[in-house]
Amino acid sequence: MLVLALVLVGSVYALVSPAASSSADSNVSSQVAAGKAIFETNCSSCHGMNGEGTSQGPSLAGVGAASVDFQMGTGRMPMARPEAQAPAKRTTFTSEEVAQVAAYVATLAPGPAIPSADQYATVGLTAEQVARGGELFRTNCSACHNIEGRGGALPNGSYAPSLMKSSGKHIYEAVRTGPQQMPVFSKQVMTDQDVKEIIAYLNTTHSQPSDGGFALGGLGPVSEGLWGWIIGIGGCLLAAVWLARKGARSR
Ligand code: HEC
Ligand code: HEC
Repeated sequence: MLVLALVLVGSVYALVSPAASSSADSNVSSQVAAGKAIFETNCSSCHGMNGEGTSQGPSLAGVGAASVDFQMGTGRMPMARPEAQAPAKRTTFTSEEVAQVAAYVATLAPGPAIPSADQYATVGLTAEQVARGGELFRTNCSACHNIEGRGGALPNGSYAPSLMKSSGKHIYEAVRTGPQQMPVFSKQVMTDQDVKEIIAYLNTTHSQPSDGGFALGGLGPVSEGLWGWIIGIGGCLLAAVWLARKGARSR
């Protein structure tokens, strides 16, 4: 009985005591260690063994967890091969693995953290605030992303992608980390509330049916004018030719 009791007490103690004293610490450090391991196999060829950067990729010191979450979450990283711009694709990493790499990169130097859900949640915004988001979007973003967020070409073979399928979290992270040619919008320039309103604007625009007919890419007068020229004037010409030929035959 005594031996049994000793074994029991011993094993219960072994189970309970370390977990109680250092669980938070060891969770974080094991997450960072796991992230470092993933980083070394998938990313270090371009970003260097310690994220210091190589000729193939920039240094990641100070880009922050938000940048990693954005780049890996949208499937841009790891880049398959060096090229002008990493295309977004389906990510092959689990969200846990992304969080591990993000935690590791965040230890290199301080940078923007992954936003919490309430920083980009759009519930409870009024129609007026959504309209203000549209104004902010047209002032700050539409030059590159088009007035409806359908994307557009930029110089040197790069492009601003369509935002039709971007999640609120990725929009927030892109705004704060400025991937590639996109500028960084800091909290002084654009508050969390501003970003929320932009997200809400994009969501409403993209879920709106176009009751007026074809949206024609949302490009405005250019595509509408082209449509008018080719279909409208072209149709009139065809009708005129048809009428003229019919008239000649009936005579
Ligand atoms: C083939 C080379 C290559 C590989 C592999 C690669 N990257 Fe990159 N990475 C780049 C280049 C080039 C850029 C800069 C151009 C761009 O953003 O498109 C970049 C940019 C980034 C950025 C944005 C930096 C900033 O300034 O905001 C992050 C974060 C990043 N990479 C993380 C990763 C992670 C994490 C992995 C591994 C899962 C990885 N990369 C794998 C080449 C690579
Ligand atoms: C100077 C041009 C420019 C401006 C201005 C700009 N962006 Fe971008 N944006 C880009 C480029 C280029 C990329 C692609 C980066 C890459 O692929 O690494 C991008 C990517 C994004 C993405 C990622 C899309 C995805 O899910 O794949 C989002 C979201 C985004 N921008 C939102 C915004 C918002 C919101 C604003 C305004 C506050 C803005 N951008 C202003 C050029 C711009």
